[in-house]
Amino acid sequence: MSDQIYNQKLITLEEAASMVKSSDTVGIGIAASEPVGLLQALAGQQEEVEDVHIWTCLPMRPYDIFVEPSMDGKFFNENWFYSVTDRKVHPEGRVSYIPNNLHRAATDKLKSTGGKLNVFLGTAAPPNEEGCVSLSVGMIVERDLLEAADLVILEVNENLPFTFGDTLIHVSEIDYFVENHTPLVELPAATPTEIEKKIGGYIADLIEDGATLQLGIGGIPNAITAFLKDRKDLGIHTEMFVDGMVDLFEAGVVNNSKKTLHPGKMIGTFALGTQRLYDFVDRNPGVEFHRGRYTNDPFVIAKNKKMISVNTALQVDIYGQVCSQSIGTRHFSGTGGQLDTHRGAQLSEGGRGIIAMRSTARNGTISTIVPTLSPGAGVTVPSQDVDTIITEYGVAELIGKTVRDRMNALINIAHPDFRDWIRDEAKRLGIVPK
Ligand code: COA
Repeated sequence: MSDQIYNQKLITLEEAASMVKSSDTVGIGIAASEPVGLLQALAGQQEEVEDVHIWTCLPMRPYDIFVEPSMDGKFFNENWFYSVTDRKVHPEGRVSYIPNNLHRAATDKLKSTGGKLNVFLGTAAPPNEEGCVSLSVGMIVERDLLEAADLVILEVNENLPFTFGDTLIHVSEIDYFVENHTPLVELPAATPTEIEKKIGGYIADLIEDGATLQLGIGGIPNAITAFLKDRKDLGIHTEMFVDGMVDLFEAGVVNNSKKTLHPGKMIGTFALGTQRLYDFVDRNPGVEFHRGRYTNDPFVIAKNKKMISVNTALQVDIYGQVCSQSIGTRHFSGTGGQLDTHRGAQLSEGGRGIIAMRSTARNGTISTIVPTLSPGAGVTVPSQDVDTIITEYGVAELIGKTVRDRMNALINIAHPDFRDWIRDEAKRLGIVPK
């Protein structure tokens, strides 16, 4: 019966693309859940449409509708998290960042449109025997947008893992399906550098047996997994599932047994990694994907005792303001779930919000610890929320401290070549007394 419903709703990519009309708002699946075929097919509508606004987050491929100058006035990219392509296209004016905390991204966006979304283009793993597709590895905003949209088209891809949690939807609830079995985008886990290994060691020292972890995007948060091999009973409650978590599970370090929320389960909202990660989450009842609205809600995160969040940043100033999303006025990525997970960890009993970063950037020519953030830098974690900062020179615990004491703690973990400069500038600017 459900096979029949599915087959009746099956259309071609071109038919699906032609259902997008001028001035439509279009939500899409994100990261490894991106509807590759549908986004490529939309370029064929170039002569038919004007002013279509696509809501994106970390687009994985340079789709024509976003990168081609001829798409001016046709498609506009409203973006929750920039990728390399968005950074390149930004000066051309066809993309703009939507400031957001990830757990409110869909809710706030829909508030701005009075709850209205014309089209949702997502992806799903093929239906199971009960006639349910799985939204697979993408639950950041996808389910909320799907529920709000007037028209829902899902690109079914047999390479997508069939996952559990809040991911299952019966085929009768979807308007149309297209089939496109594209290989999934993979993000290889980089081998940690010597500096990243030092940082990983400092972070690991702060993680006790029985703790629950969230690891953010970027090289450093993932460098710690190698240092946790002798820990016991760790749990995972994270925005993003990464390959390092599979290593820890297979080593018997992560078993989720001491979690105080969802014991026995790894909880996340999306997965981005290698095929090994996608195979691990496929039909795995020990892994659940929930909406970003739930997984990243700081009050939900805080229900995990000993919750440790590890994120990385581009700049920290001596007030403890953390910038992870821009380099001065140049928008780089986004707040994503950094502030959500950081705040959740701080609210948790025995928890800690860690920001870990290299002490320098650009081949050692600039300090990432600075007297003041560069003009125009976006504040990702405000100074009143900051907790623990780590570099390859050690750990600075800033929580509850004065600006003077924060400065001293940060100077101790700054690169030695920049320590005098930071102090002298802070005095010259009157941030601390001469
Ligand atoms: N000034 C100027 N440039 C800087 C810099 C600084 N202070 N710090 C870093 N850079 C440059 C690097 O040299 C590098 O340049 P390149 O691309 O030309 O090589 C670039 O910025 C990226 O730095 P890197 O440290 O390699 O980035 P990353 O891939 O490890 O990502 C963040 C780091 C902070 C950008 C990323 O983690 C992020 O976007 N975080 C916000 C969201 C978040 O944490 N979400 C968490 C939940 S998943």
